[in-house]
Amino acid sequence: MTDKAILTIDGKSVDLPIMKGTTGPDVIDVRKLYADTDRFTFDPGFTSTASCESKITFIDGDAGILLHRGYPIEQLAEKSSFLEVCYLLLHGELPTAAEFETFEHNITYHTMLHAQFDRFFEGFRRDAHPMAVMTGAVGALSAFYKDSIDVDDPVQRQISAHRLIAKMPTIAARAFKYTTGQPFISPRNNLSYSENFLRMCFAVPAEDWKSNPVLTRAMDRIFILHADHEQNASTSTVRLAGSSGAHPFACIAAGIACLWGPSHGGANQEALEMLEQIGTVENIPAYVQGVKDRKYKLMGFGHRVYKNFDPRAKVMQKTCHEVLDALKIDDPLLHVAMELEKIALSDPYFIDRKLYPNIDFYSGITLRAMGFPASMFTVLFALARTVGWISQWKEMFEDPARKIGRPRQLYTGATQRDFIGIDKRG
Ligand code: SDX
Repeated sequence: MTDKAILTIDGKSVDLPIMKGTTGPDVIDVRKLYADTDRFTFDPGFTSTASCESKITFIDGDAGILLHRGYPIEQLAEKSSFLEVCYLLLHGELPTAAEFETFEHNITYHTMLHAQFDRFFEGFRRDAHPMAVMTGAVGALSAFYKDSIDVDDPVQRQISAHRLIAKMPTIAARAFKYTTGQPFISPRNNLSYSENFLRMCFAVPAEDWKSNPVLTRAMDRIFILHADHEQNASTSTVRLAGSSGAHPFACIAAGIACLWGPSHGGANQEALEMLEQIGTVENIPAYVQGVKDRKYKLMGFGHRVYKNFDPRAKVMQKTCHEVLDALKIDDPLLHVAMELEKIALSDPYFIDRKLYPNIDFYSGITLRAMGFPASMFTVLFALARTVGWISQWKEMFEDPARKIGRPRQLYTGATQRDFIGIDKRG
């Protein structure tokens, strides 16, 4: 097998080493390309670019495979818990019972927020989108937890990682409660991570809150499905922000801002709103024709990497059925979604473009059945993805070869010209 690529320009050849991973595509190392050829590579959207070396998550888009530290997402969703997956992503191995007990205790005893932090929410209008609240609130965390923002101190890096994983559910629940006008509910240390979150979202002081184990398990599984996903747009944002030495609270706030986009984490809200707009199975053909006429995209469909089924979408669909069955909800939108999936998967327009349902296609129906408004869907995605972001940030920061990310460009603007006073302009 060849271990280098040879690039020849104007009769001059340069050797570009080929690097191999443990699995997946090899990479051509172009780090010396500019020095050797005075030229850049050009790859807007990074469709053919590996931005880093990582050991955390592997995706085979053609085979529909997703591994976290080597473990298939289907097995983790079925057999693990979100907090155990958090440990796995952060530390690289599944925890022993003792390791997990310590980790779970650390997270549980960091779920409260500084009492003054609650007043921070008062600065938002009640009708603020919860993602606007999350972006602001997480960015403000460094103002309250200044004792863990020295990124050069490994102990402080670990504390801020634990604080972020622990406090995101409390902040997310407050962002939700604030929009409803209901009082904030404090975390309880005797509840599991996902149960605690559901109670903070749906409990009211006027009555005791009853846990539903099916919904708790579904929430935990949905968090597992959203935990990490290689070098997606928001993770790349977190890595780039972190490459400048910015502390984790600022980097995660940057990731939240990027995730909000409708092409990325915002698609779960858009996908549900699309299903609501379609309304009935009879309206599907006309809507699909609009997609084929390129009037709009089929939200919750397509993926930069998956050119086969998103393995998370299959688990999400199963969870959707479990939740609706448990709640005895016959949601007409689920019938629309299943019929739309069937029609799309048999239509050459989608087949030719290898467009399959992604994780966002069924998540909205499930989350709405659980009681969340569509505006909270991306907040839940951000809550779960925080562990992926902070694990990737940690890996980037602890890489001895770490450099600040600073891409170049193909410049097509005006070449140098002299300034003309306003009195001499046409
Ligand atoms: C997430 O990267 C990640 O891992 C992200 C994520 C994660 O966990 O972090 O998996 C989470 O963001 C999932 C994706 C959620 N987004 C959506 O569901 C929005 C709808 N999907 C599209 O916007 C699109 O599929 C993207 C953005 C997801 C991927 O776009 P690409 O890879 O840039 O693909 P493309 O736009 O080049 O599309 C290729 C072709 C084009 O047609 P042609 O111009 O070649 O004729 O497919 C078409 C596109 O027009 N196409 C779609 C489509 N997605 C792509 N046509 C209709 N509906 C769609 N959804």
